[in-house]
Amino acid sequence: MNQPKKYTVTAALPYANGPLHLGHLAGAYLPSDIYVRYLRQNNKDVAFICGSDEHGAAITLRAKKDGVSPQEIVDRYHKINKKAFEDFGIDFSIYHRTSAPDHHKMAQEFFTFLNEKEAFITQTTEQYYDEENNQFLADRYIIGECPKCQNPNAYGDQCENCGSALSPLELINPKSTISGNKPILKETSHWFLPMERHEEWLTSWMQEGKIHGKQLHNPKEWKNQVTGQVMSWINAGLKPRAMTRDLDWGVKVPVENGEGKVLYVWLDAPIGYISATKKWADENGKNWEDYWKVNPETGEADTKLVHFIGKDNIVFHAIIFPILLKERSDFVLPDNVPANEF
Ligand code: 2FM
Ligand code: ZN
Repeated sequence: MNQPKKYTVTAALPYANGPLHLGHLAGAYLPSDIYVRYLRQNNKDVAFICGSDEHGAAITLRAKKDGVSPQEIVDRYHKINKKAFEDFGIDFSIYHRTSAPDHHKMAQEFFTFLNEKEAFITQTTEQYYDEENNQFLADRYIIGECPKCQNPNAYGDQCENCGSALSPLELINPKSTISGNKPILKETSHWFLPMERHEEWLTSWMQEGKIHGKQLHNPKEWKNQVTGQVMSWINAGLKPRAMTRDLDWGVKVPVENGEGKVLYVWLDAPIGYISATKKWADENGKNWEDYWKVNPETGEADTKLVHFIGKDNIVFHAIIFPILLKERSDFVLPDNVPANEF
């Protein structure tokens, strides 16, 4: 790209379900802070965006354990983590939160827009359901034996003993962590992102930094582990992935048949970067679109979007969110997705 006029630097939104630890700081926040300090010293126009991720099963689970509401949990840890960042001298332009009504509104508009242009498909699958509590079980609410290492307490999404990514259906003797009972399988329908539609442009974007022959970024600047993980997903064949969940805490699915369903973290959290930018821009006499959209007159990106993340978030920042941004057609794509592990 030409010399960018603006920089939009995001740091992964940490879950507000516990205090930050050094691994978080070293992975996403210190590197982004160093980059932003450098930009600011050079008088660049930077939006440095972060905030609390206040949704998802990790939070409802924590609330259940402590016998309080999810809102109490996120209120507590949002405050603690915001202060911790300040004490560490990390100077975000804004530290927003995904439970804010303006975030819900923006996330719902984003979803509705994509749904109307048929960027999603709906599919019915069987999911574990707790009959005693009448609820579908998020992956984290199911434990059982890991099929790979026999750890008896593996979660439905991963085994913390051997690190394998799992699906709940792979667990041996699954149990609901809410009731302790064996869950039943029940049908439910969800909105899926048909990622396979996007394989072609993603490949050239990832490998050459180009879409339809247009140079967007320099792929040599990307970390090998990021490009490698993305290419291994693409080479294995992309599949539809569910973008919604059966849960009563989160951004409600705003369309017909969406009752009892919320947006999954892959949509909710990255859109959180946009809603945070808008709040900051509105409060500072700026226009958020300058930090997220291509210049409507030239069709060029005047802003450089960089996502600092931990390595667990590579796939949704380097594949899923770019697909969503591209489906919007007037948004820029990330110029880089630096991911670290500590
Ligand atoms: O994995 C996580 O920690 C989530 N809170 C998402 C972080 S990345 C994001 F903000 F997009
Ligand atoms: Zn295991």
